Amino acid sequence: MRSATALRARIERASISIGIGQHQYSKWSTHSCWLNSNGTYRFPIFLQIQRHVSTGSSTNRNNDNNARFKSADRLLGRTCMITGGSSGIGFAVAERFLQEGAEKVILVGRSYERLLSAAERLRGIATSKQVSASGGDDAAVATRSPEEDSEEIAKERERDHGSLLSRQELSPGSLVAATDNISLLVGDVSSADQWMRELEKEMENVDVLVNAAGISISNILPKTDTVDISRILSTNLEGAILTSRAMLRACVRSRLKKRGDATTEDKRSDLSLSKCIINISSLLALKGVTGTVTYAASKAGLLGLTRSVAVEAAETLRGVTVRSNAIVPGYIETPMIEDFSSDRISKLKDSIPLKRFGYPQEVADAAVFLASNEYANNCVLNLDGGLSAV
Ligand SMILES: NC(=O)c1ccc[n+]([C@@H]2O[C@H](COP(=O)([O-])OP(=O)(O)OC[C@H]3O[C@@H](n4cnc5c(N)ncnc54)[C@H](OP(=O)(O)O)[C@@H]3O)[C@@H](O)[C@H]2O)c1
Repeated sequence: MRSATALRARIERASISIGIGQHQYSKWSTHSCWLNSNGTYRFPIFLQIQRHVSTGSSTNRNNDNNARFKSADRLLGRTCMITGGSSGIGFAVAERFLQEGAEKVILVGRSYERLLSAAERLRGIATSKQVSASGGDDAAVATRSPEEDSEEIAKERERDHGSLLSRQELSPGSLVAATDNISLLVGDVSSADQWMRELEKEMENVDVLVNAAGISISNILPKTDTVDISRILSTNLEGAILTSRAMLRACVRSRLKKRGDATTEDKRSDLSLSKCIINISSLLALKGVTGTVTYAASKAGLLGLTRSVAVEAAETLRGVTVRSNAIVPGYIETPMIEDFSSDRISKLKDSIPLKRFGYPQEVADAAVFLASNEYANNCVLNLDGGLSAV
């Protein structure tokens, strides 16, 4: 018999989504509610809400854009190393990989502070993924207010920051675990030879390597300094060669280690899922533009690297498949092109059939495809709004 006092009921997987200003708040989980005597439901005043973290790029448009991509756990259990993971395209790739269930992302960059800030922004994704992975009934029955929630997050940050910042003495190749799912590898890829031992050690568990670290210095060739030529080539091209070599060496080493005592099960699982290298090249590798000679040469070199690794890895590695692929972006809205003049931006946009620059999330979406499609090898994917056709 129903009394005036409300009966308690449970609603499975209730979903709530609230837009406040520019931010979208949402949460789904099992929530408690009360059934009133007149048959209507009464919800607790406060539902736990979680702010979606922002993307690496500062534009709100990019935040909105990120919501368009639906996760399907395509990288479940994979460990992914992303050079240039602290900003722009690399950051967006890390974000998407976590959304796709990657077990761990290792962000590589020169600045510990920038890596730490990226980890902060990524942390919400790792956490929300864990909450949803823990399933319906066991998921939080949340009745904290937003204020209580943000106090708790602030306290957590303070605790974590304390332990991370006490490790400021970082030599190249230092690895810092920011969370269970996010590690930071502090190092300059252009001089990766100096911290190769650390890089190769970390590479042992890496399934997907994304070479996104890159710099661009615009100048016509007669006016370009030799130092700048070296910096561009060693970061954009040599860096990717060194990280690729580290991955291939790690494959050889782990095979030698396993040989002899591997069970049939081990051998089967080795063969079922391949490893994958994804190089972020550029449309400038294929299309001549004034002021970009060295950059274009470095990006064209990445296409040669991609092609040769696809063949060599298949011929020389035993028991493990390494696929090698490239993305060829046109103009993408990241800090790399932030200093373009408005006049240049409008002329460039006008020349693109889709009349806009791409978003880093759109490049990240291509990276998810290349990382998860087991037949993608020497797949060179251009993503330029149609500019390559002009
Ligand atoms: N944005 C575009 O329009 C566009 C178009 C085509 C291709 N791309 C390519 O896409 C890749 C990502 O660029 P982005 O647009 O995302 O630029 P971005 O926002 O400037 O990011 C570049 C990233 O590379 C890292 N990096 C630079 N030099 C490094 C080094 N020596 N060692 C380790 N990390 C280094 C940076 O971190 P630290 O500075 O902290 O080291 C940063 O995380 C680049 O290879 C770029 O050439 C970009």
